Amino acid sequence: MARADDPINPARLAFLNELLPSVITTKAAQELVSRMLSHPSATVRQSALSILAAQTTGTSNDAWLPTLDKLLAEAPSPLVLDAIKKLKSAHFDTALQAVAADPNPALSIRLKALDATKSVKLAGDTFTLVKGVLTDPASSAAAKIQAAGMLASATLQKPQVLEIAPLFATLGPIELKTLLPIVRKNKDPETGRAIAAEIAKNPVIASAQESHYRTAFADQPPEIFESILHPAYTKAIEATEAKKRQLGSLAERAAASGNASRGQSHFAAGKGTCMACHKIGDIGRPIGPDLSHIGAIRTERDILESILFPSNTLARDYEAHLIETSDGQQTMAVIKSHTAEGLLVIDIAGQEKNIPHPTITADTTLPTSLMPMGLDQTMSETELLDLVAWLRSLK
Ligand code: HEC
Repeated sequence: MARADDPINPARLAFLNELLPSVITTKAAQELVSRMLSHPSATVRQSALSILAAQTTGTSNDAWLPTLDKLLAEAPSPLVLDAIKKLKSAHFDTALQAVAADPNPALSIRLKALDATKSVKLAGDTFTLVKGVLTDPASSAAAKIQAAGMLASATLQKPQVLEIAPLFATLGPIELKTLLPIVRKNKDPETGRAIAAEIAKNPVIASAQESHYRTAFADQPPEIFESILHPAYTKAIEATEAKKRQLGSLAERAAASGNASRGQSHFAAGKGTCMACHKIGDIGRPIGPDLSHIGAIRTERDILESILFPSNTLARDYEAHLIETSDGQQTMAVIKSHTAEGLLVIDIAGQEKNIPHPTITADTTLPTSLMPMGLDQTMSETELLDLVAWLRSLK
């Protein structure tokens, strides 16, 4: 039984959950978390993990390690892995690699384990695992974005780049944008040519701007861009222009024949990856605006325009920033708040990150939305109209 004077009294859990992540750098908070991790109540132990998963400072404490080691060995749940990922400690790397290499846990768990390691090594089985996430139609939108990010930040060998080149024909807009820097990292013309040929086949080629491609292919022989990518890109842009002219009639059809309840299922099933960035009720992530009442302020036409041409009408407070840090990393993100220590951002994979002010070398506001063009190409026209009808019905 919890004693009334026990500060970890379960009645105070909500308060502790709220408070501790932001003060986790203090000794008192760390001691409380230690006690919570070994508390007799399972609810309290879970709370301790949630607190560790919610912290953004990378704080670690040796007293926590044995409990986390044990949980990782016995039951590597998503919460345990989220908690471990937030600790700035390479202590778990070997055990995490072992979870990733074990074929038994769910794929999402193995991927999460790999993502939580401090130095991601993509070789052999782990490379196959990450690549598999991008080719498996059953992978969730978040898993795909995560896998693309891991491939983009890893140092890949030429045969590995050639092995993933065919993926570029079918990647969704976010993964395409995330993986594109691979071209720049591997200056070999053979890999550049292979990737360009695949991007040219991708129906969402127009989702990235021409300048993105020019930058990615800047170190490649110019004819790769000029004769392979540019023609395909121009054709896709022309198709987009034609679609712009159809906006009015598409909106009318969404109003007349879109099926809202089918639209709801499409959203929940991850169609168009909308829920990777938008919350509706309890589903989805808060990168873009909450769409729970979007129908009260937007017409079918507005909604369609937001989906087909996201950068035309930028919702305020959701501008995309490209933040560069002194370690050479670039993060595309929406800024949630400015704290005393730095910027609290939510990146394109939905991860909250605290970027300390002194490490920021550049912060550029992008003229384009974080919401990519071409999402409509990932579903049929009927599905698109159903989705619009559902969003319009949310008042
Ligand atoms: C990568 C993240 C991302 C994805 C995926 C995404 N959106 Fe967005 N969306 C945003 C952001 C950021 C904004 C705000 C900036 C802007 O207006 O473009 C936005 C804006 C919107 C708006 C306008 C909201 C308003 O208040 O006017 C609508 C409607 C919308 N999105 C619908 C969708 C639908 C439907 C999908 C799926 C087909 C989708 N979004 C997928 C990030 C995303």
